Amino acid sequence: VTALAPLRQQMAPYACQRRTPLLHSNQLLTEALETLAEEAGFSGSEGRSLAFTRAASVLKALPGRLSTPEELGPLPGIGEHSRRVIQDVLEDGVSVEVERVKLSERYRTMKLFTKIFGVGVRTASRWYQEGLRTLVDLQERNTKLTRQQQAGLRHYEDLNTPVERGEAESIGQMVQEAVQRFLPGASVTLAGGFRRGKPRGHDVDLLLMHPEAGREVGLLSRVVSWLDSQGLILYQHSQENSFTLHEGPEAPGSRDVLDRFEKCFSIFRLEVRGSPGAARGWKAVRVDLVVAPVSQFPFALLGWTGSRHFERELRRFAGHERKMVLNSHTLYDTRRNLFLPAASEEEIFQHLGLEYVPPAQRNA
Ligand code: TTP
Ligand code: MN
Ligand code: MN
Ligand code: MN
Repeated sequence: VTALAPLRQQMAPYACQRRTPLLHSNQLLTEALETLAEEAGFSGSEGRSLAFTRAASVLKALPGRLSTPEELGPLPGIGEHSRRVIQDVLEDGVSVEVERVKLSERYRTMKLFTKIFGVGVRTASRWYQEGLRTLVDLQERNTKLTRQQQAGLRHYEDLNTPVERGEAESIGQMVQEAVQRFLPGASVTLAGGFRRGKPRGHDVDLLLMHPEAGREVGLLSRVVSWLDSQGLILYQHSQENSFTLHEGPEAPGSRDVLDRFEKCFSIFRLEVRGSPGAARGWKAVRVDLVVAPVSQFPFALLGWTGSRHFERELRRFAGHERKMVLNSHTLYDTRRNLFLPAASEEEIFQHLGLEYVPPAQRNA
């Protein structure tokens, strides 16, 4: 019988059934749990990582501040280990386990390396095993780097300085102007964390589309070439659209790829007047550009708005509870053997029998 008790009963098992605002009252707890999630990910323990992420996500949806572990009651998705961590933080202000992780050489090195654009857990782990510990080590020992990783290392500091909303909007405008040159009527939509209301982020996610089917083909390479010719691009690699319905509904989500849209992972050169980078006059900013055909746009928008955990939960809900396959291209009903078209995100939630969750409440 606590302040949280009545509201806790509304805690639904899937994150996509809950409203998760950006700001919540249990920051200390979620940070502790997310550190353990990250550490588990660094060790390749995906299941353990997901368990900590789920627990953190549940706390983010609580309507108030947790003051005793008992208040948790039988909340879904919080396992034994997470409960222990929560109890430690509530009682002592910190979890000894979490503090130990944060100080460990392995965690710190993995964090340093995975913050390089183009370096994932596997590469970072290999470098750690080889005895590498610093960014200087990478250079001095002539570690083999991809072109992407070289760019990541060159712009390490800028790319690990948060992108402010104003900067994201400037970049959106730059891209919008380039898009208008080649395809008037096409639109550019800011997705990712900024669409969820985050004041800053690690990159800028932009979705391009044209309301007439097929007109978007070829747009991205023209836009990127033009921006490049203006000296606005420090790095880019593009992927062609490889989506085809004939592969069946499950194809896009499989084989490690999130989607098969034509896209460009890039680093922009953004003119800045204020700090940081002010002395130089510009700052490197990570930008993801994605092109979606109009019929797939609502699915792309939903998929690229995140959060990553919210997306994972949406797909899990679709599969387990509805026998549907959801990805960033389509929604397929395996009971009726048909694709369910949608003209808006709202319609996708309707097809899934879910209450609509606006972007600002998808910070799971
Ligand atoms: P991110 O840009 O990684 O994350 P974010 O915008 O939520 O937060 P940050 O401020 O750190 O940038 O991913 C945004 C969404 O894009 C996420 O839901 C996953 C999705 N995504 C794809 O669907 N396909 C892809 O290939 C990639 C890279 C991301
Ligand atoms: Mn355990
Ligand atoms: Mn982003
Ligand atoms: Mn991104």
